[in-house]
Amino acid sequence: MQIELKDFTMSYEDAGDGLPVVFIHGYPLGRWMWAPQIAGLADAARVIAPDLRGHGDSSATAGEYTMDLLADDIHAMLDILAIKKPVVLCGLSMGGYVALAFCRRYPQRVAGLVMAASRASADAPETRANRDKTMALAKEKGLPAIVEQMLPKMMAPQTYQTKPELVERVRLIMEAVSLDGVLGDQAGMKNRPDSLPTLAAFDKPLLIIQGEEDQFAPREVAEAMKNAAPQARMALIPAAGHLPNLEQPELFNQVLREFLKQL
Ligand code: MLT
Repeated sequence: MQIELKDFTMSYEDAGDGLPVVFIHGYPLGRWMWAPQIAGLADAARVIAPDLRGHGDSSATAGEYTMDLLADDIHAMLDILAIKKPVVLCGLSMGGYVALAFCRRYPQRVAGLVMAASRASADAPETRANRDKTMALAKEKGLPAIVEQMLPKMMAPQTYQTKPELVERVRLIMEAVSLDGVLGDQAGMKNRPDSLPTLAAFDKPLLIIQGEEDQFAPREVAEAMKNAAPQARMALIPAAGHLPNLEQPELFNQVLREFLKQL
């Protein structure tokens, strides 16, 4: 399905009824990373998964994609879909950064938050410098170089060994990102603020999900979030890296289903 937002066309999935749960994908990915959740949770909730601007089948715009801009896109989507009641946000990695921006800007529209493979802190100086290198690489060599850089690190070692078809699926999802999307995301992530205070002030149900073998968002990052928000539930997913929802979909869905039951 598609809707027209102010400056781009957004593609999204919308399945099931009941409590709306908005799944926000990570970088450099798209809505199809949530396929096991769309299929597995639509009996328990209204599952909505957009392609952010510049990703998947959504059109791209040039320039920086601040986390606030991407959060405003989600907000505009909810208005167009006439969803007035508060929603649960489930963001993976960059999707979590966007979800926190949404919580800061539209707290009254949030019923609960799931931070998956994500972090609340801003970038360290080294990460910011790496983002400049990634943007230079993308400009010089294009999207294939970005896919080659990211794909071998996204999942746990055993996922590469035992689930080659999943690795290929993730490659295809990455290949659907535009160059503007890569550059926009990297600039936006580089400049995002520290959201630990937002998390600490969050007063709705909160779930932190972490793959035990995540190279991008390691255990200490999840623990920093839990320290900032001690009321949070925390689930560690074994044999999973940065994409626990795809690497261990049944376990991920079970944890999410339990969380949604409380709401
Ligand atoms: C992601 O998966 O969204 C990225 O690893 C986030 C980041 O680069 O900080």
